[in-house]
Amino acid sequence: MKNIAVFASGSGSNFQAIVDAINAGGLSATISVLICDQPGAYVMERARAARIPTFVFNPKDYLSKADYEEEISMLLKKKQVDLIVLAGYMRLIGPTLLKAYEGRIVNIHPSLLPNFPGKDAIGQALAAKAKWSGVTVHYVDEGMDTGPIIIQERVRLAENETRESLQKKIQAIEHKLYPAIIQMLLTVGVVKHDEKTRAN
Ligand code: GAR
Repeated sequence: MKNIAVFASGSGSNFQAIVDAINAGGLSATISVLICDQPGAYVMERARAARIPTFVFNPKDYLSKADYEEEISMLLKKKQVDLIVLAGYMRLIGPTLLKAYEGRIVNIHPSLLPNFPGKDAIGQALAAKAKWSGVTVHYVDEGMDTGPIIIQERVRLAENETRESLQKKIQAIEHKLYPAIIQMLLTVGVVKHDEKTRAN
């Protein structure tokens, strides 16, 4: 059984979807730990309910990103984590974790990257009056939502689309897509991804 670590900062509906997929037998993995940078986040409640170990930290308690990432990296090594899954983790991953888990960190983002990276991708799509948006799962590099893309799924925006309706459509896709892609990556082996391979 492969071990994953989920990193989250907020409500944790994607974390919940991963927990539910494991419980339903659709994803063969163990969530070894939830890493959270927001002590009050609702995802912590979800982890408690699912009896999943947590590591919560406040970046302000550390001198630098390297310091807290070193501590996290040691914890992940101890727990023999195979794959890091970012699920609404609103912080850039630094060189310490990128080096330790090169090609083994994935993220989900609520837009068709490279469109609308960063915060509030759903609001950005609405403000731009985009006809299409969607969901992207990608490998993580040092940039903000910039790593090599693994899969994208599109959503058409209706004329009268609201933030609530678009969020609902996007989350429905995320909650199915992310567990399925995690299962695929764990099954076929998480290979070091290379831009050249993708271009061919
Ligand atoms: C998700 O929609 C995820 O795609 C997004 O945060 C939300 C977290 O929701 N991630 C990003 O915007 C990353 N740049 P959740 O806490 O309910 O899973």
